[in-house]
Amino acid sequence: MNKTKIALVSGAAKGIGYAIAERLISDGFFVILIDIDDTGGKTAEEKLGKDHSIFKHCNIDNEEAVNTLFDSIMTEYGHLDVLVNNAGILRDRMIHKMTFEDFKKVIHVNLAGTWLMCRAAARMMRAQKSGRIINISSRAWLGNLGQSNYSASKAGIIGLTRVLALELGPHHVLVNAVAPGLIDTPLTQKLSEEVKEKLIKAQPTREMGCPEDIANAVSFLADNNTQFLTGQTIYVDGGKSIGAGL
Ligand SMILES: NC(=O)c1ccc[n+]([C@@H]2O[C@H](COP(=O)([O-])OP(=O)(O)OC[C@H]3O[C@@H](n4cnc5c(N)ncnc54)[C@H](O)[C@@H]3O)[C@@H](O)[C@H]2O)c1
Repeated sequence: MNKTKIALVSGAAKGIGYAIAERLISDGFFVILIDIDDTGGKTAEEKLGKDHSIFKHCNIDNEEAVNTLFDSIMTEYGHLDVLVNNAGILRDRMIHKMTFEDFKKVIHVNLAGTWLMCRAAARMMRAQKSGRIINISSRAWLGNLGQSNYSASKAGIIGLTRVLALELGPHHVLVNAVAPGLIDTPLTQKLSEEVKEKLIKAQPTREMGCPEDIANAVSFLADNNTQFLTGQTIYVDGGKSIGAGL
């Protein structure tokens, strides 16, 4: 069995996922980069180095693709130490204008996709009697206008995290979530300057976070020195979740 520490990061082609992969590599992990964006994924692999990472195309939303991915991990590496479920999408609109398709798509990728990855990892990690699962939720699970699909999916991820902490605790697998606030990534770079300014003004810290802020929290949760911590959600959101009206 290969003794290198192995981590898998979904949505690793860019943004927060890329920063997480970069940080885990500097922490000594070999990182399997998962994405549906082949060009971005291959560029990420090149930038991070083939000695430290490998890109594999996988749509986390597809049961067969996820199962095939985990079979290949078992064959090639024999174990998985850390799974980071980071891939996620937005389809924002107020509910009276939102299509059922946009509701289903966001729930399917963000929640069902994360569940599929967790199930496959849980089977491996139970058998190896060790592992960490880190799910990227969002501060938006507390509620955001125009995000009835996204907030529900991210709330679901927190429920899922808590249940898996209960189910996998006896097998020495720790499961936690990170809830980012407003982070400067390709996802938020699509927002208009006006909207961005409004959002930044609503932050206690009056600034956006960067992908490395999230990578830092993931690194802490993945660290072998971090023990006895499971089922929790760590907010990395410049204090927005405190909820005081500004
Ligand atoms: N940026 C923020 O402000 C912010 C805030 C809170 C939570 N988040 C969450 O953090 C995570 C990363 O966000 P980001 O801003 O880096 O987003 P991003 O859009 O920059 O990157 C997301 C990556 O996920 C990939 N992806 C999308 N659907 C996929 C699928 N079905 N299978 C595999 N890969 C898929 C995309 O191709 C992309 O490379 C998401 O879950 C997002 O909801 C982001």
